[in-house]
Formats: sequence, C-alpha cells, structure tokens
Amino acid sequence: MTNTLERRLEAELEQFIRDGVYKRLNFLDSPQGPRVKMEGRGEVIILSSNNYLGLSAQPEVIDAGKAALDRWGAGTASVRFICGTFTVHRALESACARLVGTPASLSFVSAWNANEAVPATLLGEDDIVISDQLNHASIIDGIRLAKAITRCQTAVYRHSDLADLESKLTAARDRRVRLVITDGVFSMEGSIARLPDLLEVCRRHHAVLMVDDSHGTGVLGATGRGTAEHCGVVGDVDIITSTLGKALGGAAGGFAGASAAVCDYLTQRARPQLFSNALPPTVAASSIASIEYLEAHPERVTHLREQASYFRERLLELGFKPLPGETPIIPVILGDTSAAIRMSDLLLSEGVFVTGFGYPVVPQGQARVRCQISAAHTRDDLDQALAAFAKIGRQLGLI
Ligand SMILES: Cc1ncc(COP(=O)(O)O)c(C=O)c1O
Repeated sequence: MTNTLERRLEAELEQFIRDGVYKRLNFLDSPQGPRVKMEGRGEVIILSSNNYLGLSAQPEVIDAGKAALDRWGAGTASVRFICGTFTVHRALESACARLVGTPASLSFVSAWNANEAVPATLLGEDDIVISDQLNHASIIDGIRLAKAITRCQTAVYRHSDLADLESKLTAARDRRVRLVITDGVFSMEGSIARLPDLLEVCRRHHAVLMVDDSHGTGVLGATGRGTAEHCGVVGDVDIITSTLGKALGGAAGGFAGASAAVCDYLTQRARPQLFSNALPPTVAASSIASIEYLEAHPERVTHLREQASYFRERLLELGFKPLPGETPIIPVILGDTSAAIRMSDLLLSEGVFVTGFGYPVVPQGQARVRCQISAAHTRDDLDQALAAFAKIGRQLGLI
C-alpha cells in the first residue's frame, strides 16, 4: 500500500521537475533581511520576503522575544481554553485591536488558522459567504471548510467587481447572514480592495464585511494601520484578519479583529483555538514590540512607500512594465511560467532573489516575477537589484 502511494508520489514529483514547477527550498543561514546568507549562494539581496518594515531583525523586537523566553518559557503546552492563555496573549490582543481599529481581537497561530476559523465558526446552514475571486488560498480553503462543516451557501464575485457582488447579494437576500470576504491587498497583484465601496454595498444589503489585511497591516495608511486607514474607514470594517508573520516582525501568528462578541464566540467555538496550542509567548511578545515600534515610528511606513515607488519608477525607466499600484508588491508580468522561472533563476545567479509565479498560482499567460520591497532595503540594495534586472532583462530580450 505504502509502496503504491510512494510510487505515485515519486512519479508526480518527477513530472513537477519536468514541468519546471518543482519548488527547491533555499536555506538561509542568517536573519531574514534585505541581504541574507543563502546556503550555496553566499550573500543574496532578498526581494521576496514579507518583512516589509524590516522589523524581524529590529533589536527591540528580538529583545522582547528573548525576555519573554526567560519569563514565560518556550511554549504554552496547552490550548487557550485549558491552561494555554498567558497574560502576554491579552496584551497582544489589545495591541492588535488598537492597531487595526476593531473593538477586540483574538490571536491564532497563523493568519491561515484565523481565516479557516472565522467562516466555519460564525456561519450556519442558513447563511452564505461571498468571496472575491482573487482571495488568498487560506480564505478559499476556509470557505470550503465552512461549506463542508456547516452546509452554508457559497458564492464568488469577479475580482473587485462591485456590480457582480451586488447581484450575488441580491440573490442571497433570503439568507440569515451574508458574509463578504476580501483581501485588503491582493498579494499576487499588489492591488488594494475598494473598501469604501465594499462597505457601502455591504451596509445596503445588511452584509458583514471581513477583510484579510495580511499584506496591508503595517504597510498601508499613513501610520501603517492597514487598508482601512489607507481608505479612510478605520473602525468601519466588521472583521479584520491579519498576520503577525509579515510586516509585524515576520515571526508567525495571526489574529481576527472584530467585536467583543465575535471574538468571544471564536474563543468558545473556533476549532483551531479549541484543539491546537496557543501562540508561543516569545512570538506574542515580539509581535507586541513590533506594534509598539510601528506606533512610535510611522516614518518607517513612509520610508517603505518611498522605497517602493523608487523601485517601481526605475523599473519603468528600464523598460519593464510592472503592474501599476501603490503597495510594495511589484509584479512584473512575463507571460508564460517558464519565462518567469527563468528570469527568477537568472536573477538569483546575479545575487538577487525574486520569486517567479506561474499557473495555477496566477492566471494562465500571466506568469510573473513578484518583487517585494522592504523599508530595510538601502538605495544601494535596490540599485544593485535594478542593475541585475537590467542585465537579465536585456539578455532575455524583455527590454
Ligand atoms: C493574504 C494572506 N492571508 C493569509 C496568509 C497566511 O498568513 P500566515 O503565514 O500567518 O498563515 C497569507 C500568507 O501568505 C496571505 O498572503
């Protein structure tokens, strides 16, 4: 039996290699940062991490984790409701709620878990969840799970198409609860959800709006409070899920920000909360330090924005056509998957790490390399990366 399974898996893995979609892991031997030590490659400029603010190596963030290790030990050894809730969780949850502008929040070991928990816990058979077509995989799987567990209805609206959402909401007017879910920032496009319009449509249809702001938190808005701040609607979104594993220090963890009742209900009933250990205190403490750093240093967010527009403008000057946008996610469309993978490989041979994404992660014919800029990049880092883009772009006849 095992042999049959292994033979099939081995055959599929070989096919992945032949198709050029096999993912080889790159081992880093230094902290995550604008330049890392990559095993077998030496020093490499990273244009692919979610460390948007460079906080994963911020001394205050590291020190907070070390102090937490001494004070609370390595882990919780329990789920939240038994004996895994530490005082640091309460402090983290009030910091997350304050940051994103919700009355309360509840931490999870990942944003994936938060997105998996919310629809399956809050919805029932009489309800419907309506999702943007380009939402993140964790939302898609969270909805699949909700459908399997609760038998709720599901629907998908065309990406950012408010008229399509409106027609789905109209068709769902007999449902008890209509939950609309969107990413705040769409991670493959770098585009921003139209939150004021979404809120207006949702209010008119008495729908609940949930925003996954994993790529917006710490990144968008004058002070990094996310897509809601960018759009001028802080306090208006019903449920915000986000990660602690990107701009906020890049360790791990996630949270759901919402009303006290929603967070309490998730504490009572969300299965990833009930049956999986709580976030380690070290990570919780580092995340609090990240949030406090962000609150004290809004200029880091401004700097991130300046760095991203510098890189985007220089790419345009070189003759590349990055997708237009305002976020530090800068995709350069190359067409087919093999072109994106080749570009990424050649850039790595120049000491610049940029991931290539192809079908099925992005639509057929829209394979791309996706650059992610960090406030920690120096102009020197960005200029060196741009020189590599220019060299490889010419070599491949792209510019
Ligand atoms: C939009 C979005 N949501 C959720 C997640 C999952 O975050 P985490 O790593 O905290 O599970 C990601 C990570 O890639 C993401 O891009």
